Amino acid sequence: MDLYEHEARELFEERGIPVPRAEVTDSPREARVMARRLGGSVVVKAQVKTGGRGKAGGVRLAADPAEAERTARRILGMDIKGHTVGKVMLAQPVDIEAEFYVAYVLDRAAGRFLAIASAEGGTDIEEVAAVRPEAVARIPVDPAEGVTSAKAGEIAEAAGLPPQTVDVLVRLWEVLVGRDAVLVEVNPLVRTRQGHILALDGKVTLDDNARFRQPRRGEDSSTYDSPLEAAAAAKGLNYVKLDGEVGIIGNGAGLVMSTLDVVAGCGARPANFLDIGGGASARVMADGLTVILSDPAVKSVLVNVFGGITACDAVAEGIVRALDEVRLTKPLVVRLDGNNAVRGRAVLAERAHPLVQQATTMDGAARRAAELADAG
Ligand SMILES: Nc1ncnc2c1ncn2[C@@H]1O[C@H](COP(=O)(O)OP(=O)(O)OP(=O)(O)O)[C@@H](O)[C@H]1O
Ligand SMILES: [Mg+2]
Repeated sequence: MDLYEHEARELFEERGIPVPRAEVTDSPREARVMARRLGGSVVVKAQVKTGGRGKAGGVRLAADPAEAERTARRILGMDIKGHTVGKVMLAQPVDIEAEFYVAYVLDRAAGRFLAIASAEGGTDIEEVAAVRPEAVARIPVDPAEGVTSAKAGEIAEAAGLPPQTVDVLVRLWEVLVGRDAVLVEVNPLVRTRQGHILALDGKVTLDDNARFRQPRRGEDSSTYDSPLEAAAAAKGLNYVKLDGEVGIIGNGAGLVMSTLDVVAGCGARPANFLDIGGGASARVMADGLTVILSDPAVKSVLVNVFGGITACDAVAEGIVRALDEVRLTKPLVVRLDGNNAVRGRAVLAERAHPLVQQATTMDGAARRAAELADAG
């Protein structure tokens, strides 16, 4: 899960990383009041989970509270690379002398973290990295050893960062470990004309697998990219929203992934990924159908179950009971195969729901679901 800049800023502040004073709002009027509180002049920053906001016009200096209100009004609602700006952060402007780049990122392949740092931070860092890779230091970090002061000194030296950044490098590592993050990035980390080191922008990606042992983030809406994903998560479903029109339910991540491929191969687009796992109970089936049917883009639904330990007749019973609970509004194509498939199919045939069709193969089921989506 990616955090907003203002959420990252909060985590930095908690760990003692110096950040400018800042406040967040969704209201231009309130922006004026906040700007006054922050000393008049502020930097107004779009809160979106994508980079390059500055270049897109989402980071602007306002000279006084009235201008902060106008600027906030202009930035709120703006579209930045497909993200609509719902909130702005107002930050105290600082007098920048130098901009640095620092980040820790999980290197899964190497089973380590990587410290990435450069004395040439700022909004052009991607270009610096592409044109002069030698200006960006990459130092492996052993997760068991972490970033000690000595290690931080090594990183700072390799990147040509001033020694005052060592303390921030250690604290940034503490943020990563303490919050189970897989990425923490500060760009820019600046030295002000007064000689202070400050984190002016932050990006943090938390490891979703560690969510259970982390305190809940305040802003629930920020956790999921779509309200459907939030609703699915509330029901404990393993659901990811996609762009298409064929709703997908399957058991086992591998089967669901190949179902997405086969549907795409039939010229249709999957509307979601939903793995109901081994259980496939009526409860899970009903919850899954409820979420998928509430997606207005969905035109047909494909249930693809291969019975292994789970028997298909149990799955069919689950579907039948779910049909009593959920009002089916779109055609449903069911393919049951494997353990007790024949009995499972009989259970569904007996229910004879007008919107439910069966297919015996995955290809046939995908083709049918694609046709129905096309017709719907
Ligand atoms: N509080 C501030 N005071 C002065 N200048 C600032 C402040 N915040 C940001 N800036 C300037 O604006 C630039 C862009 O801001 P920021 O890095 O927050 O946005 P961004 O464009 O989204 O960054 P990225 O390219 O990392 O996505 C910074 O590099 C910095 O020069
Ligand atoms: Mg930045």
